[in-house]
Parts: sequence; C-alpha cells; structure tokens
Amino acid sequence: MEDLKGLILSGGAGTRLRPITHTSAKQLVPVANKPVLFYGIEALVEAGVTEIGIVIAPLTGDEIREAVGDGSRFGASITYIEQSEPLGLAHAVLTAEDFLAGSSFVMYLGDNLLRNGISGLVETFRKDSPDALILLTEVDDPSSYGVAELDGGRVVNLVEKPDDPPSNMALVGVYLFSPAIIEAARRLKPSWRNELEITEAIQTLITDGRDVHSEVVKGWWKDTGQLADMLEANRLVLEEIETSIDGYMEDSKVEGRVILEEGAVLRGSVVRGPAVIASGAVIENAYIGPYTSIGRDVCVRRSEVEHSILLAGATVEDLGTRMEASLLGRDVRVTRTDGPPRTLRLLVGDRSEIEIV
Ligand code: G1P
Repeated sequence: MEDLKGLILSGGAGTRLRPITHTSAKQLVPVANKPVLFYGIEALVEAGVTEIGIVIAPLTGDEIREAVGDGSRFGASITYIEQSEPLGLAHAVLTAEDFLAGSSFVMYLGDNLLRNGISGLVETFRKDSPDALILLTEVDDPSSYGVAELDGGRVVNLVEKPDDPPSNMALVGVYLFSPAIIEAARRLKPSWRNELEITEAIQTLITDGRDVHSEVVKGWWKDTGQLADMLEANRLVLEEIETSIDGYMEDSKVEGRVILEEGAVLRGSVVRGPAVIASGAVIENAYIGPYTSIGRDVCVRRSEVEHSILLAGATVEDLGTRMEASLLGRDVRVTRTDGPPRTLRLLVGDRSEIEIV
C-alpha cells in the first residue's frame, strides 16, 4: 500500500464551548497545558504518518497556522487546507481532495483524544487494506454521535445522531479510508443539519458492498467538544503525569504528582496533584487541588481552585470560596472586592455561563 496521509479536521466552530471559541479555536484549548490538536498530530507522527493536511476554517485558521507552524517540530510536514464553510466532515474530505491525491488516509477530528494513540489501528489498516476502518466505543448518550448497528462483529448500518439509537456503540473521530471514500462523499446530499456527513459516506460504502471494518477502542477516548468532556480529558491526561518541580517554592507544600515548570512561583500555597503549573504562573496564599491545569502567566491569589483549566494570563483573586469544574479563557479576571454587601459585578462575553452555587 502506498504511504498513508493524515487529514486533521480543525474547522468546526466549537459552538458548544462558547464563549472560549468566540475568540479561539476549540482545538487549541489546552489539556494538561498542551493544545488538544497537538495530541492528534503527535498520535499520527507516532504511527508513522507524517504528511499531514489540516483543514481549517477562515476565522480560526490563522491561529492554528501560528500554533502548529510547518510541522517540523513534530517531525511532520503540514499542509493547510481552507474549508470556506462548515458543511460537514465529508465536505472537508472533498475539500482536501487535491492534497490527498488518491492516497489512503487517516482522518482525525482535531478535538478528539485517544489514550492509546493510533499506531495499532494504522498497522491493522495497512495489513488488511479495507476501504474503511472505523473505531467504535460504548457511550451513555449515543444520540450525540454517529452510531453503528452491528451484526456479530460486522457493521451493518451507521446513522448520525439518531433519535432512536440502534446500539450504544458510537463512532470515534478517527477513521482510516481508501480513496473510495471520495467517490462515496461525492454522492451525498446534505443532512438535516445541512452537512455532508462522513457517517453517511461510510454507510454508502457498506451499501455498495465495500469492506468496512471496525475496531473497539482500547483505553479511553474523549471528544473534547463540551466543557465536561474537556475537564474529563484534562483529568485523564493529568492522571498519568510524573512529578517534576523546576519552579520556585517558598513556604509551600506540594503533594502527589505535580509539574511545576521553571519560572513558576509558589508562595504560601498548597498544591495537591495531579496538577500542572506553567512557567510564569504565580500562586500565592492559595490552594490548587487535583486535576487542575494552570497556564502560562496565570495568577491565583488567596483562592482555592480545583478540577479546572485556567488558560494563559487568567487571574483569580480573593474568591473566598472554592472554584471548581471551571474553564477560564485567556486573560480572564475573576476577583472579589472587599466587604459586605455582597454584590456581583460582571463583565462577561456573549453566551458565557456563570453559576453561583
Ligand atoms: C462527529 C461525527 C460523529 C462522531 C463524532 C465523534 O460529530 O459526525 O459521527 O461520532 O464526531 O467525535 P460532531 O462533532 O460533528 O457532532
């Protein structure tokens, strides 16, 4: 088989992660202080797939180009492909047709994270050369995904976000395809959400009697499209970090597995891991609890933060209560001013969500 290419889709609008995604691509939201998208690039490179196309949207494309560059630091060669409108995953494949140039390819949704990478999958695809190899996993809410109906181990039917799911086996956002998928995508009509659905393109292959193989994911998988999943992915990745303390500590205590990067400062604080604290962060008279990722130049003072992701430059001061299960965007400030009466004073972007609990 000729060499496999990689196609990462990073064009989605990220509506479920607003307002963060009003100003930033969802694929660049960090998990354990590394953008989600980088995990995907690394997984492809580890599987020996180094010629990678990234499909970008007009609004967030520049930010992705800037973050990823030409791919050399990942050991990859990256081509950017602009998808002018978000008309679906199969539309993205058609947009990338010139880049794919008749090769088989791995398609990877840029907001997906797979614990065990994709090397085993790529090996199986090379060995068996089916027209599609799809990845399935059991989920609690199949109506939110593409769903497979199985007969024994064989996929007999695929439906996108069904009201009445035929099983609880969801399609994971990593697919391996022969060029036959292009022809199938060309024959699609837009779905109810006005997208060309990759799920329907694969169904077309099945109807045509082509070889569609499936595998069940080993290890965890997360689609980080929503806040709860993003926090869960952060938790799962932090679960596996090793302690390394390179930052500065004064009157502070670190318990459990913690990464304190060089240039980070802890004063009069307790950090209970797993947690990562990036360079330039200042934590003073504060408590950082498990499953927290603190980005570059973040300040946390006289506050408690747990199970949260704080993006670069965020500030949390004098909260007087614990903040948890939260995602703060870049340069966000959360502070409390002195004394009663207790009043909230907010400057908040469109579609933000604030819960006072
Ligand atoms: C897409 C696919 C869906 C798949 C999911 C995996 O959903 O359409 O079949 O199960 O990715 O992340 P979307 O992110 O477009 O809602």
